[in-house]
Amino acid sequence: MGLVSMTELLQQAQKGKYAVGAFNCNNMEIVQAIVTAAQAEHAPVIIQASQGAIKYAGVEFISALTKIAAESVQVPVALHLDHGSSFAQVMQCARYGFSSVMIDGSKHSLEDNIALTNKVIEAVRPLGISVEAELGKIGGTEDDVSVAERDALFTDPEEAERFVQATQVDALAIAIGTAHGQYQGVPKLDFARLREIVKRVSTPIVLHGSSGVPDEAIQEAVSHGVCKVNIDTNIREAFVTAARGVLEQNLKEIDPRNVLGPARAAAVEVIREKIRVFGSNGKA
Ligand code: G3H
Ligand code: 13P
Ligand code: ZN
Repeated sequence: MGLVSMTELLQQAQKGKYAVGAFNCNNMEIVQAIVTAAQAEHAPVIIQASQGAIKYAGVEFISALTKIAAESVQVPVALHLDHGSSFAQVMQCARYGFSSVMIDGSKHSLEDNIALTNKVIEAVRPLGISVEAELGKIGGTEDDVSVAERDALFTDPEEAERFVQATQVDALAIAIGTAHGQYQGVPKLDFARLREIVKRVSTPIVLHGSSGVPDEAIQEAVSHGVCKVNIDTNIREAFVTAARGVLEQNLKEIDPRNVLGPARAAAVEVIREKIRVFGSNGKA
């Protein structure tokens, strides 16, 4: 299959009460691991490229690799720009065949975020490209957050309603207590806030910073309406730990295939486990 947009994948997930895994890629081995895992689990899947991945690998390489990867499997695959930083970057990804983009206007005021998101939607929706936006601040790993900080950082349900009414965006990333990267403690998700958002907004909800969130918490979030779950750090951990293991066992190893092959296999395993936790196995 070729690349598909995210809209239909997320609408089906919403109906079926599961979430589609959105896995970050940095290189060829991780792209291969994502589609191999999705195919093995018969799951729809989203491959996404972060700002760091684009800087490292280049949009053109990510686009070419993922296109071939998607064509090599029978399950639907979307290619998504993660935390898109500008209108220009979104348009570059559109030209390179991305089937979905995120425009991250979360650092702007509500009005400016709405304006930027609408500009992107107007430009790419006619091309069949889906758009994710973000409301609230997902941030790096923080420990305990006070109630006042919560209200300042987390997504305000009323604002979410206004945002969706004003944009009709395809997917909305929210801040309810997750953070990117490795956690120091166990993250506590604000499920009451999630429920309030879902009550007001029928748009598929996206959970970022999902590595390190306990499986039960992810499943509870999915049961309340999260339809896309982003995983990056857990793949990096599995990949690099396996590579390190090979190198530690054989200090004389010089063949990259002997290092990256086991790393790729470890990534496949962790992605398969996540797909089962999200309930998207058997859905394609
Ligand atoms: O956006 C979330 C990513 O996990 C950050 O990745 O370091 O590749 O930009 P990056
Ligand atoms: P983690 O690295 O915490 O899994 O976050 C991934 C993410 O949200 C990418 O946008
Ligand atoms: Zn993110």
